[in-house]
Amino acid sequence: MPDGQALPKLAFIVLRQLNGDTPMSTTRTQVAIVGAGPSGLLLGQLLHKAGIDAIIVERQTGDYVLSRIRAGVLEQVCIDLLDEAGVGQRMHKEGLIHGGFDLLFKGARHRIDMNKLTGGKNVMVYGQTEVTRDLMDARQAAGLPTVYEAGNVQVHDFDSQKPRVTYEKNGQLHTIECDFIAGCDGFHGVCRASAPKNAIKEFEKVYPFGWLGVLSDTPPVHHELIYANSPRGFALCSQRSETRSRYYLQVPLTDKVEQWSDEAFWAELRNRLDPEAREHLVTGPSIEKSIAPLRSFVTEPMRFGRMFLAGDAAHIVPPTGAKGLNLAATDVKYLSNAIIEFYQDKTEAGIDTYSERCLRRIWRAERFSWWFTSLMHNFPENGEIGQKFQDAELDYLIHSESGSRTIAENYVGLPLDFGD
Ligand code: APR
Ligand code: PHB
Repeated sequence: MPDGQALPKLAFIVLRQLNGDTPMSTTRTQVAIVGAGPSGLLLGQLLHKAGIDAIIVERQTGDYVLSRIRAGVLEQVCIDLLDEAGVGQRMHKEGLIHGGFDLLFKGARHRIDMNKLTGGKNVMVYGQTEVTRDLMDARQAAGLPTVYEAGNVQVHDFDSQKPRVTYEKNGQLHTIECDFIAGCDGFHGVCRASAPKNAIKEFEKVYPFGWLGVLSDTPPVHHELIYANSPRGFALCSQRSETRSRYYLQVPLTDKVEQWSDEAFWAELRNRLDPEAREHLVTGPSIEKSIAPLRSFVTEPMRFGRMFLAGDAAHIVPPTGAKGLNLAATDVKYLSNAIIEFYQDKTEAGIDTYSERCLRRIWRAERFSWWFTSLMHNFPENGEIGQKFQDAELDYLIHSESGSRTIAENYVGLPLDFGD
């Protein structure tokens, strides 16, 4: 190193070790999971249920993970998986079963009766924060290892049969020797970024607007969700319980959350609703307010030797179709089954087909989320005729049973064996 330049922190720790100053630790487990969001925690729980050891390494604190407000619409596949993981009790007690939702356009609301159109299927409204909390509580109750505030997490040798994960904590360099690495570290994680550039292809579409979201302890404006297409922009009325509501407004990407007072938010939401909803809207102070960008993103493949990507680490959907958590759950279902088969049935069939099985479902959900986003949001670049096309498509969909069914069956989630 040139004189005067500070040593990189990791190098410093290794050097101190060479001088015998800083203890290094080496731990052995079967699966090293990077990321303690819903994907990592659910995978850890399903592996534990099968008697497979896993260590989760998370760069943030548990409170920080819980502070992130995300969508909360669960498909039946996700509900069943949480039950299988043994964490469904509170979800069934507090979750809200929804058999339909409203589409609002040209100032009028029209209900999509999902339950009737899909032969009895529903969704459950239960916040992702609560799913994460239930999984965290279950992991803690089982005394399973989760390392929070892990610094400089790195993945190594995943193209061999002896992959490793290293991280820094309390001035120590820690190594986890494992059989598999599960990259559950989200869109900005280290695992996808560590895949060989010549082995990965990324597909991305960034939308020219964001979602300004507000959480408020006010009763929901309606007992089901309202998706609104208005010439002023998209709006969504959602909920967390009978006393807590979640609202979103489409805003320009240039907007900053500081520009939006609560009063301005409520006034603009009113402008995008129908008269009945305006009359029933109960406003109050925001307990969380943030702007999130919208993108469609998919990584192919999702497996790199002994490292597997799952959830947001591999794909992102615009939240319009509420698919993010549900796709993560399906990835974790396929990955946990594959790893369990490897150890119990001594077969690599599951891990060899993991990527293909996930991507088929992912692309279907990406397509629906892109289509629903394109239908419901305002695209100034499309001119007034663009609004006319959207109004005409919505008018067709609500008056066509097959049109309404295509929305309903995608929203509740296509069966796992769809198209087989
Ligand atoms: N080392 C360790 N942990 C990391 C690293 C890293 N280098 N990078 C990110 N993480 C952690 C994040 O702090 C986060 O807690 O990985 C976790 C990833 O969690 P999520 O981003 O929530 O992704 P996932 O678990 O796949 O859940 C998908 O979350 O973003 C929503 O809409 C999405 O509902 C979907 C769900
Ligand atoms: C939410 O409740 O946060 C939510 C619901 C449905 C969506 C997106 C977000 O499509």
